[in-house]
Amino acid sequence: MKILAIAGSNSDTSINKLLASYAASLIQNAEIEVVDMNEFEMPIYKHQREVESGVPQEAKNFAAKIDAADVLIISLSEHNGTYSSAFKNVFDWTSRIKDRAVWNEKPMLLMATAPGARGGLGVLEAAAKRFPLHGGNIVDTFTLPFFNDNFDKSAHKISNDEKDNELKEKTAKLSALEIILEK
Ligand SMILES: Cc1cc2nc3c(=O)[nH]c(=O)nc-3n(C[C@H](O)[C@H](O)[C@H](O)COP(=O)(O)O)c2cc1C
Repeated sequence: MKILAIAGSNSDTSINKLLASYAASLIQNAEIEVVDMNEFEMPIYKHQREVESGVPQEAKNFAAKIDAADVLIISLSEHNGTYSSAFKNVFDWTSRIKDRAVWNEKPMLLMATAPGARGGLGVLEAAAKRFPLHGGNIVDTFTLPFFNDNFDKSAHKISNDEKDNELKEKTAKLSALEIILEK
């Protein structure tokens, strides 16, 4: 099973990247690629840019990585209650590629984490509502509140047992898809 773990962040110390890669590591015998938005940095979407030069290669690269994956594990950083600008720009450009849905119906675990009590619930709710309109096949959602208390960076794992078990149950749903995908 090929997993694309996506951090919807361009921070070099992204907590969502840590969470996405931890969640991916819970799936046995998987080929894992972890990406963040730095890899797909491009000019901010502008109608005239699209008319003049088309969709930038970086957005096409993002789409190609989605297409090459069997499942997606995505964790979004929350900026002012919604997507980070870095993620939104990649999402916007990718949505302009002709004749494709951004997420291409790939089974997805949709997550968010933040240092605060809501754990990025605002961006998670926005994405859960919007992604299905772009080929998003959301198998489950997960938030990790109080990241700094609930994630042990040196052990690279969730330190809150209840939340860790919840994530393990949710990633098991993706593992179970392997049987279906191989058929
Ligand atoms: C501009 C800005 C806005 C933010 N807004 C929120 C917010 O609305 N809710 C929240 O929980 N955290 C907010 N934060 C804190 C982020 O959750 C925190 O920076 C987190 O590390 C972002 O995830 P990342 O490290 O994966 O990029 C904000 C941070 C910035 C820089």
